[in-house]
Amino acid sequence: MTELVLTSPLDMHLHVRQDAMLDVVAPLSAQHFAGAVIMPNLVPAVDTVERLHWYTGEVRRATAGHAFDPFMTLFFRDYTREELVAAKPHIIGIKLYPAGATTNSDNGVQEIMSMAHVFAMMEELEIPLLVHGETHGFVMDREEEFCEVYRALATRFPRLRITMEHITTRAAVQLLDEFPNLRATVTPHHLIITLDDVAGGLLNPHLFCKPIAKRPEDRDALLQAALAAHPKLMMGSDSAPHPVSKKECPGCAAGVFTAPIILPMLAELFERHNVLHNLQAFVSDRAQQLYGVTPPRTTVRLVREEMTIPERYGDVVPMWAGRTLPWRVASVTA
Ligand code: DOR
Ligand code: ZN
Repeated sequence: MTELVLTSPLDMHLHVRQDAMLDVVAPLSAQHFAGAVIMPNLVPAVDTVERLHWYTGEVRRATAGHAFDPFMTLFFRDYTREELVAAKPHIIGIKLYPAGATTNSDNGVQEIMSMAHVFAMMEELEIPLLVHGETHGFVMDREEEFCEVYRALATRFPRLRITMEHITTRAAVQLLDEFPNLRATVTPHHLIITLDDVAGGLLNPHLFCKPIAKRPEDRDALLQAALAAHPKLMMGSDSAPHPVSKKECPGCAAGVFTAPIILPMLAELFERHNVLHNLQAFVSDRAQQLYGVTPPRTTVRLVREEMTIPERYGDVVPMWAGRTLPWRVASVTA
């Protein structure tokens, strides 16, 4: 095949930051995607309705001129019912970070089940819960250990829609089939890399993220589910830009920046496995079904022509900088 057309691709997990960084990275997503779930882990976090309105305005300003719906989230805390009711029309869900699990999550939740009253209200108000699912255990085991928490939440709040964000393990893939109210996002990079790519040779800081890439058998389980367009799995890039000075240094920040290369990367991957016909479901249809969203209708045409990945976007180094991909985005029409 030499041409591929996608309709209204969606990125169901995206970091666009704020200020100058927002202006660099948000248009790169908006130029390919018809919508994205915008993460709230700014400093300070987006955890009031007032700050939500401010941030929504900022994202809209930075993506003006594109057919792009920002699906906003709040940073989970002990909200009152009044706050949840006020926020609901303006958000797609609330993102829970265990305290200290990742970038800007120090004010996350210490003891998840102590928040049962908030989960109960979210269930009643039909507000989805998005979760960064990692314990504070050994780094390779954090997600698998967290599966117990997913089980407890899914069982105790059977009508609460819970998204397991950026899953990286076979154990998490298996949970999808166990609980009707669990769904998940997976990143393109976790479909491709393992810990070996991060730290098996010379350390690659641009592939360092949380959750860390795991074993080949985990990657293969994720890949199999994505290639098959699993009905409960959505593409969420977790594209998470940091300035090069925060990546190429001791104390490297976690986050892989993929926003501008997601669609070409996935076209190559799905083509290599002879399932290009499933890419539309993975990058848009599943998200529309699972969240009941209707993004602007856009037509994205990819062609089988080489794209060399730039060394930098502003002061951000993308994944695979300098490499060549066999597909590129040729046009986007709204
Ligand atoms: O690697 C990551 N970077 N994982 C996260 O969960 C957060 C993100 C960020 O905000 O940089
Ligand atoms: Zn994230």
